[in-house]
Amino acid sequence: MTDLIEPGEVLFNPFEPGFFEDPYRQYRMLRDEDPVQEHPLGFWFVSRYEDVSALLKAGLSVEMGNLAPGPLLDQAAALTPDADPGALNLSMLDRDPPDHTRLRSLVTKVFTRRAIAALEPQIVRLVDAALDRMADKGDCDLVEELAFPLPFAVISEMLGMPPTDHARIRELSGTLVRSLEIVADEETARAITAADAELSAITRDVIAWKRDHPAEDLLTALIQAEHDGQVLDGDELVAQVVLLYVAGHETTVNLIANGVNALLRNPTQLKALRDQPDLAANAVEEFLRYDSPVQQTRRITTSPYEVAGKEIPAGAFVLACLGSANRDERFFGPDAGELRLDRPNARHQVSFGAGPHHCLGAALARLEGQVAVGRLVRRFPDLGFAGDLEWNGRINLRGPAKFPVTVHA
Ligand code: HEM
Repeated sequence: MTDLIEPGEVLFNPFEPGFFEDPYRQYRMLRDEDPVQEHPLGFWFVSRYEDVSALLKAGLSVEMGNLAPGPLLDQAAALTPDADPGALNLSMLDRDPPDHTRLRSLVTKVFTRRAIAALEPQIVRLVDAALDRMADKGDCDLVEELAFPLPFAVISEMLGMPPTDHARIRELSGTLVRSLEIVADEETARAITAADAELSAITRDVIAWKRDHPAEDLLTALIQAEHDGQVLDGDELVAQVVLLYVAGHETTVNLIANGVNALLRNPTQLKALRDQPDLAANAVEEFLRYDSPVQQTRRITTSPYEVAGKEIPAGAFVLACLGSANRDERFFGPDAGELRLDRPNARHQVSFGAGPHHCLGAALARLEGQVAVGRLVRRFPDLGFAGDLEWNGRINLRGPAKFPVTVHA
C-alpha cells in the first residue's frame, strides 16, 4: 500500500508507523481535511460522527455479492483464489433482509435483556475469582488474568460449550477477526480462510454433541429456535454460533483493557471512579467512546449514496470509522480527545454500530465492563503499569495484546 501514497498526503493508512499506538492523530486529520475519502485501494472511508451515524442507519447492504466489479473485488478474489468459503459469511452480520431479519429475530428471542441481567451474579463471581488470582500474583498481565478470560468464560457458559481446546479456539478466532479489516497480503487471507474452516468444523461437532445433550443454554435454544415454523440448520446455524462466540469475547476484551489503560493514564478519572461507584455505567460509555474496542464497520452501497456533498457510487465498499466518529469534536466538543467519565453525552458513542445491525451483545458487554473495571479499581488502590503495554496490531479490533500491571492488594 505504501507505494500508493504520496508523501504528505492525508490518507487512511493503518500501515503508517505509530498507527497502532495512536490512530487518533490520523483520524483527526481525515475528519478535518477529507471526511469522505475515496481511497486509492478502492474503498471509501467515512470519519465524521454525523456521516458515520447516518450511514449506519441508512439500511445499506452488507453482502459482498453487491460489490461492483472492479479493483476491490479483483483483489479479494486474487487473495483467496480457491478458498473454501467456510460458514462465517452466512452470519447475520453479512446478510441483508429478509435473511438478516429472520436470523436476527431467532437469536434475539434467546438473547433477551432479562437473560443478560440475570447473568450479573455469575459475572461478579468470575471477576472476583480473577481478582483473587491477581492478588496472589502481585505482578501479572491484565489481558491474561481478567480482560480475556471473563468474556470468554461468560459466552462459553451462555452457549453451553462442552469442554474443548480453548487455546486452539482462541488462536483461531484471533485469526478470524482479521477478516474484519483491510487484508494486504495473501498469507493472511489464506490463514483467515483456514481459521474459518477449522472453527466451523469444531462448531459443527459441538452442535452435533449438543443435539444429544440438550440443556438450559443458548446453544440448545438456538438449535430449537423457530421462526415462522422454520428452524436454524446446517451452515447457517454454525455461522450464528461462530459469530456469537467470537463477537462475544474478541470485542469485550478490548473494552476492559482499553478502559483500564485510559484510566491508568488519567489518575484523576481513576480516583473519581474509585470514589463514586455509581459512575461505572457512564464510565463504560466513555471507555467505548474514548478508545473504541471495534474501530470500524462496513456497508456496501446498492445505489448512489450522497454524503457530505460527495456521491459514493453504487456497489462501493464503505468503511464507517467508529473510532474516529467517537472522537469528533463537532459532536463531542473541543475536549473530545480527553477522557471524562462524567461526559454528559458519552452514551451517544457509536461503538456498537447503529441501525439494523446494531450490536446484539451491547447489554452484555456493558455489564461485563462495568463489573470488571469497577471491581478492579476498588479492589486494588495501587493498581499501576508494571511494564510497557503491547498493542495487538489489529486495525479494527484494536486493544492490548500484553498489559503488565502491578496490583499490590
Ligand atoms: C454486531 C461492536 C460485544 C454480538 C456488532 C457491530 C459492532 C459491534 C460495531 C456491527 C454493528 C453495525 O455494523 O452497525 C461490539 C463491541 C462489543 C461487542 C464494541 C464489546 C464492547 C458483543 C458481544 C456479543 C456481540 C458480547 C455477543 C455475545 C454481536 C452480533 C452482531 C454484532 C451477533 C451482529 C448483529 C447484526 O448483524 O444484526 N457488534 N460488539 N457483540 N455484535 Fe457486537
